[in-house]
Amino acid sequence: MWDAVPARWNPDEDDVLICTHVRPETHDVKSFLFRTPSPKLFRFRPGQFITIEVEIDGEVINRCYTISSPPTRPDTLSITVKRAPGGKVSNWLHDNLKPGVAIKALGPAGEFSCALHPAPKYLFLSGGSGVTPLMSMSRTLYELGDDRDIVFVHSARTPRDIIFRNELTMMAHGMTKFRTAFVCEQMGEHRDWSAPTGYLSSPLLASIVPDLAEREIFCCGPDAYMKNVRRMLGEAGFDMARYHEESFSFEQLSPEEQTESQETEAEKQSGGFKIEFTKSGRTIDCRPDQFLLEAAKAAGMRLPFSCSKGVCGTCKSKKIAGQVVMTHGGGIRQREIDAGMILICCSKPLGDVTIEK
Ligand SMILES: Cc1cc2nc3c(=O)[nH]c(=O)nc-3n(C[C@H](O)[C@H](O)[C@H](O)COP(=O)(O)OP(=O)(O)OC[C@H]3O[C@@H](n4cnc5c(N)ncnc54)[C@H](O)[C@@H]3O)c2cc1C
Ligand code: FES
Repeated sequence: MWDAVPARWNPDEDDVLICTHVRPETHDVKSFLFRTPSPKLFRFRPGQFITIEVEIDGEVINRCYTISSPPTRPDTLSITVKRAPGGKVSNWLHDNLKPGVAIKALGPAGEFSCALHPAPKYLFLSGGSGVTPLMSMSRTLYELGDDRDIVFVHSARTPRDIIFRNELTMMAHGMTKFRTAFVCEQMGEHRDWSAPTGYLSSPLLASIVPDLAEREIFCCGPDAYMKNVRRMLGEAGFDMARYHEESFSFEQLSPEEQTESQETEAEKQSGGFKIEFTKSGRTIDCRPDQFLLEAAKAAGMRLPFSCSKGVCGTCKSKKIAGQVVMTHGGGIRQREIDAGMILICCSKPLGDVTIEK
């Protein structure tokens, strides 16, 4: 190992992560473990995510992935990735990221963490790959020997899609107040699946968690799943101040939304600046009080973004000309800013701007 205690990882100085191990979790989910090139310790809150940067066919692409490992194992960091059908990065990671391969990463970021909302009783609700932040939180409490009252309800399509099933079951054996419940849409190949099948419903949730009202709830999963959860909690009269959720969705405007926003925004435009996007060949108007991404969306452009808060780095773009005011939340490195990069989701124009996008 090492003689001196390793320093803390600072991605602003050293953003390279080396893959050390790849662990298959289900038929379409893998965990990737990383270390830093020279020994460094990772420090983050359970539930936070990193933004990774990969180059695929000459294109540099950023994506956010929750850290699925707990901060109680600071020498390593893992992400757990589900293949998105047709998705660029998730499939690239599954097919190319092997031990020894280096990627770049930024972060950690995010505020979806039980560490920020201490409570005697938690309800963790997850759907599909949304299990990752709740797994990091559970692993942390487990490894700290913190026998908190936790009910972990995970929804999956079929039993073979349940991520971390064995480890969750093991934690439930090891902690007296940690309970798991798996809800599967269909039985799939598992003819021996004895739990009820179908979606999580209000009666099912009430039967699994009769003391729902006493719990701090953390929820992560597909948007439709979380919408359903919010509806059920609303019906149950749950105090939503104690409800926290994280969305993984890569938001893109639907054609209907684009048309609608174009019309509304067209009325609002007056005396704005010209923003030129060189790659897409579009020039749009942007008011001085408007973020560039907001103006681009209003004009019907489809640009990559995720958090819209300057933390994930997904909207990073090269500014070729002009001045902006940027109020980011850590999604960009100082040396990138020095090289003319900006996050368009949190940048407002000070005049006409040209962006390489
Ligand atoms: C905070 C945060 C944490 C996250 N944590 C995790 C995690 O722990 N694990 C995990 O697996 N994921 C996580 N994600 C999601 C992850 O960032 C990626 O969005 C996901 O892996 C898909 O990326 P991709 O590049 O493979 O797919 P993309 O290439 O972005 O495509 C996504 C989907 O959209 C479709 N698509 C792409 N372009 C178009 C188009 N023009 N028209 C129609 N459809 C299109 C694709 O076919 C695909 O199904 C997280 C996201 C966020 C924001
Ligand atoms: S969308 Fe996340 S930093 Fe801009």
